Amino acid sequence: MKSVERKSRFPFTSFPNGWFRVAYSNEIKPGEIKPLRYFGKDLVLFRTKSGTPYVFDAHCPHLGAHIGYGGKVKGENIQCPFHEWCFDGNGRCTATPHTNRQPPAAQIQKWLVSEINGVILVYHHSEGIPPTWEIPNLSEYTGGVPFRKVKQWTVRTHAQEIGENGCDMSHLMVVHDIANVTSPPKSQSMEFDGAVAVNRVYVGYAPSFPEVWIMGEEVNGLSILRHYGLGCIFTTLSAKGKINFRWMHIYWITPVDEEYCDIHLAFGIPNLFRSPLAHAIAVATSKDIQRLIEQDFPILENKAYHSNALLYDEDGPIAKFRRWARQFYSDVPSPNPNTNLTAAISSTHTQSEDLMTRPL
Ligand code: FES
Ligand SMILES: [Fe+2]
Repeated sequence: MKSVERKSRFPFTSFPNGWFRVAYSNEIKPGEIKPLRYFGKDLVLFRTKSGTPYVFDAHCPHLGAHIGYGGKVKGENIQCPFHEWCFDGNGRCTATPHTNRQPPAAQIQKWLVSEINGVILVYHHSEGIPPTWEIPNLSEYTGGVPFRKVKQWTVRTHAQEIGENGCDMSHLMVVHDIANVTSPPKSQSMEFDGAVAVNRVYVGYAPSFPEVWIMGEEVNGLSILRHYGLGCIFTTLSAKGKINFRWMHIYWITPVDEEYCDIHLAFGIPNLFRSPLAHAIAVATSKDIQRLIEQDFPILENKAYHSNALLYDEDGPIAKFRRWARQFYSDVPSPNPNTNLTAAISSTHTQSEDLMTRPL
């Protein structure tokens, strides 16, 4: 197990391994450059003339200028604003104008980048190990009507806590003022496949005026939360009432530094439900979900992380989620393959310590 520098208020690093959003694709056009700060580091994002996005550590190896402030894209290269050294897409120095010398072996640290689902992602791994998984093309989202950049927050929390909150069923009726619930939210299943976790949550509610005219008096809602590592939660919401609706939203979660996370929320409607009415309902739902998310922040920003939390069945699949999340850390022991997780979870309550990260 790798020893990783840890300043986190959690018993694991604030910088888990995996894919994390650093920008929306439409925020950066060919030839543009943008300073970023994630994972406690200054970074620079640029898109070359041919359209390829790159993310580098920001500081020039010559005299340390931040290339994101005043740097220029030159074809497929990037040029430092201080003495005009140039670097190619691999971060290798290709030119040192104002000297008669060959470019040095100097190199800027390059991040692994993927562009998919309308976002630019970087892969972070504490030990520099290449990825064994990708965030797939979420075709229902990309083929539908996306409203990108619905909302952004910077929150004093950990990426894992955002995912865990979606598994925490018993807080939903306490922290969130979900109106007219006839059947409280319940996680019916939580399934895992490598870096993907899928949580199916059911809720029943009675719509109020004027929604009742459209949806009917009783609506059965199904939320499917798909976690791709700790940086992406793709959620579909289906409501069956007098007429049926379906919406999607994506949380993109990226650690900013040891204390804070950047959370972006983007909404969409599947093509099948494309209509002015579906759009109006989805816009109203998106506002509602923004409000619900913000209700979590005072708790998340100030809570402690109890590795040995006492968990009841009614709390939802928190222990399972924590056990799955261990794979994204280099500083946390792997789960004990002999632990009978199913048996432990189905007991009346379980002390979660042996199912998840122990205090280190
Ligand atoms: S600091 Fe970048 S070229 Fe000198
Ligand atoms: Fe919540």
